[in-house]
Amino acid sequence: MPDRSLNKKFEMIKPGNVFLAIVAICITVQSKAQINPYNYHSQKKITCKKGAVISAHPLASQAGVQVLKEGGNAVDAAIATQLALAVVYPGAGNIGGGGFMVAHLKTGKNVSIDYREMAPSKASRDMYLDAGDNPQMDLSQNGHLSSGVPGTIAGLFASHQYGKLPFEQLIQPAIDLAENGFVITAAEASSLNHNRDEFIKLNTQTPAFVKTIPWKAGDTLIQNDLANTLKRIRDNGAKGFYTGETARLIVEEMQRGKGLISYEDLVNYKAAERTPLIFPYKGFSVVTMPLPSSGGIILQQALGMLENRNIGKMKFQTAASVQLMTEVERRAYADRAEFLGDPDFVKVPVKTITSKKYLTDRMKDYIPNKAGSSTQTSHGIVTESDETTHLSVIDGDGNAVAVTTTLNGGYGSHTVVGGAGFLLNNEMDDFSVKPGVPNMYGAVGNENNAIAPGKRMLSSMTPTIVLKNNQPYLVTGTPGGTTIPTSVLQTIVNVIDFGMNADDAVNKPKFHHQWLPDVIEVENNFDPLVVQQLKAMGYTVKQRGRIGRTELIMVKNKNIVAVGDSRGEDDAEGF
Ligand code: DON
Repeated sequence: MPDRSLNKKFEMIKPGNVFLAIVAICITVQSKAQINPYNYHSQKKITCKKGAVISAHPLASQAGVQVLKEGGNAVDAAIATQLALAVVYPGAGNIGGGGFMVAHLKTGKNVSIDYREMAPSKASRDMYLDAGDNPQMDLSQNGHLSSGVPGTIAGLFASHQYGKLPFEQLIQPAIDLAENGFVITAAEASSLNHNRDEFIKLNTQTPAFVKTIPWKAGDTLIQNDLANTLKRIRDNGAKGFYTGETARLIVEEMQRGKGLISYEDLVNYKAAERTPLIFPYKGFSVVTMPLPSSGGIILQQALGMLENRNIGKMKFQTAASVQLMTEVERRAYADRAEFLGDPDFVKVPVKTITSKKYLTDRMKDYIPNKAGSSTQTSHGIVTESDETTHLSVIDGDGNAVAVTTTLNGGYGSHTVVGGAGFLLNNEMDDFSVKPGVPNMYGAVGNENNAIAPGKRMLSSMTPTIVLKNNQPYLVTGTPGGTTIPTSVLQTIVNVIDFGMNADDAVNKPKFHHQWLPDVIEVENNFDPLVVQQLKAMGYTVKQRGRIGRTELIMVKNKNIVAVGDSRGEDDAEGF
């Protein structure tokens, strides 16, 4: 594939300047040798010593590893990877969405940063109900009205306090990729073509993702407006997004499309440093995301309900082990629907619902070999007042970072901010639009997750680090909406209880249960005999396409093994 930026360099050569030009070309070739946006492929696994990055796109993983090689730490690499994803993986990578970072630093400190989107100040509880009280999910899922106030850029700057390199250096690969373009794969071309009608319908100005003729593999995607937005962020910091030109463009876009995000909403947005959720499991320590993600709590509840039942002895994906996991998932998701919401707005009894006694009580009606029922088993009793992306990073100093970030659905709201070149999220759909009405992932909720101005919508994202002797052992997470916590659960149990290697822990078939609907979903390649046995116990089992795109780093005997999920074009890089 031709390197177009080299052509630009050749244009500058004048006779008296030949030596200088050759030096310039060599420097270009050297730095381009690390990231060549016109020729790349996805590598599923790497074993290395000094550092690794796994993400949904090879160019983003390479941007992260380049930063590690330049002396950055895992936090720096995670920032550079996210910014590159915002360019090369527009379906989910973003600056117009939000996410969560969980880190274990070499000092021993565990960190979690919440940069979840917030409801705009003009949002209200029933904003997606029509006059007859009927939910209008089209509005919570598509276009201007579906967007929450973006959190990603605030989150990256909040994370940066734990990095080492200047932000300008971390954002430059993303700027280059946006400005010079990158070659798209067949899957990316088909995804852009598939979303063409939505891009046209839901935008007030034609975005870079729409061409007159269909995209094909090998085409170059150039995003000049996005490059300029990234430059404003490089030059002005978070203010380059939340104030001035970028903020003005967002507000104008909202006005053109009847959205709610105001200039004040942008100026007032703050990322929040939260206390990470940390709990023991069989001698390991699990560090994960607290509220407003439900993911960490579901993981803690599920592992807590499994811990004394020796699932390892039941073996991987036997009817017995799948049934047990299904029943703990049912109970955790019933609690999610009842209790969980933004902790800045509602009181959530986290301590109680994750306590040993409560979790033991929750499993009292579990009967081996007999299907439970979501009508009989609802939430516990407390007595007191399709698109996201994950990246895992580790460096040679023992810093580990897990980040899951999202626009919510693929390409979010499908609305690109005119003149600013980035997609806005459709995260408002993660609120409970009306009690009991399922969102696009089938999740139900009640008042605790109702819409209110400035409130953060509940999430399932579960970036997680498992520590062994207080050192990073697993760094993991995945996209997949409500299947996220159950995929992370399976990945951890696959390694700790079933003794799997990293490859198998990621790539073996996955399954999922979320209380409502009362169905076990299994991937198409799930063992049909086990499906039969589960049906015989009384379960409804439904086959479905892939579940998640799990990224897993495992550290074993000082070797880093990084595995990107074969379910997507995920890529592991390291050195
Ligand atoms: O925060 C959440 O739980 C959802 N917005 C995540 C969406 C997602 O994972 C889509 N990916 N396939």
